[in-house]
Amino acid sequence: MAVRQIREIGDNLLRKKSRPFETVDDKARQLLEDLYDTLKVTKDGVGLAAPQVGVLRRAIVVDLSMEEENPQGPFFLINPVIVKQSGSQVCREGCLSVPGKLGDVTRPEKVTVEALDKNGKKVKIKAEGLLAVVLSHEIDHLDGILFVDKATEIFDQDELQEEER
Ligand code: NI
Repeated sequence: MAVRQIREIGDNLLRKKSRPFETVDDKARQLLEDLYDTLKVTKDGVGLAAPQVGVLRRAIVVDLSMEEENPQGPFFLINPVIVKQSGSQVCREGCLSVPGKLGDVTRPEKVTVEALDKNGKKVKIKAEGLLAVVLSHEIDHLDGILFVDKATEIFDQDELQEEER
């Protein structure tokens, strides 16, 4: 187990396309574990993609198990692909690689994701709401896309908190 350093916006590696895995081997499993360990030490992260820890491979972890309303996950996914999507929703997103910023992004309301799990078994996830947002956000990372590229408006987290007071 290892907590890895999270790369931040401005780092060129975050803009590169990640390579798929041919097989889910120990190296892939180790990467998933490291992603999970790294995610767990963050305060409010719900997903992490391999390029965020400097590895250009198609692996993501999504964990909504701490959500009060609809706890789901954690999901450990290799080579995730959105095979179906429908509807749209606007969500205020943040990203561990873009500290201090939030933005309003339009995402599909529902997505169906196919991937391989830790054991190399095919899985299909039918997601809606927040899970659909997070899956779509993390899969974007694998193609070098950050939420700020898609956001209609970007806010400073500090300023938003100031307004709420
Ligand atoms: Ni992100």
